[in-house]
Amino acid sequence: MFDNIAGKYDLLNRLLSFRRDVAWRKKAISKMDITNKMLVLDLACGTGDMILELKNQVNGARVIGADFSMNMLTVARRKGINEPLLAADAHYLPFKENSFDRIMIAFGFRNVVDKQLGLRNLYRILKPGGRLCILEFSQPEGIFFSKIYRIYFTKLLPFIGGVISGNKNAYTYLPDSVYKFPKKDIYKEMILSAGFKKVEFNPLTFGICDATICYK
Ligand SMILES: C[S@@+](CC[C@H](N)C(=O)[O-])C[C@H]1O[C@@H](n2cnc3c(N)ncnc32)[C@H](O)[C@@H]1O
Repeated sequence: MFDNIAGKYDLLNRLLSFRRDVAWRKKAISKMDITNKMLVLDLACGTGDMILELKNQVNGARVIGADFSMNMLTVARRKGINEPLLAADAHYLPFKENSFDRIMIAFGFRNVVDKQLGLRNLYRILKPGGRLCILEFSQPEGIFFSKIYRIYFTKLLPFIGGVISGNKNAYTYLPDSVYKFPKKDIYKEMILSAGFKKVEFNPLTFGICDATICYK
């Protein structure tokens, strides 16, 4: 699915989120307290927008991108990303334990089938004292806004996404996967039981999105 939409992915992100995706990535990176010389993993890096934003904010940070879609990685390369990019699956991460100072995963965690295994893997490869940022869609709070948002997210967005990408399934899958995502208390419990000692939620744009920081 991700291979199929790689070519139109960035355009649709900007369009369907009214460019909020750019602000969400900015915010997520600013919450991670990254300094230069740190080694950062961008898991599910896709077309590399988190890497570009990180390079923008922190001169000198070293970053590795990983994703299981080769087409997404190819688009990232074409956008001028010179950092190491490798094909890897969140369920089988090919890194030694305690390798990274920071790990970020933007709009990717929702897609990891075995989330508990994914979290354990991320915990394992993060250095003690390190931070993981999971930037992910969430369900907005507030009845009025939630209702309007649901209409947009489940009807309009799949339609526009389907027409432009030629892959309606991918843009029907998006709201489906968000509404199936574990509720906040269960999500928090999953993160803690993977070993993280503290979780901090940072709701963005009325809670459409959350930059969740997990501390090892
Ligand atoms: C919605 S895109 C997000 C891309 C990018 N992080 C961004 O901010 O735009 C989700 C990405 O997660 C990747 N992905 C999904 N499941 C994965 C897994 N199990 N292991 C590695 N990458 C995965 C997909 O290939 C896709 O590139």
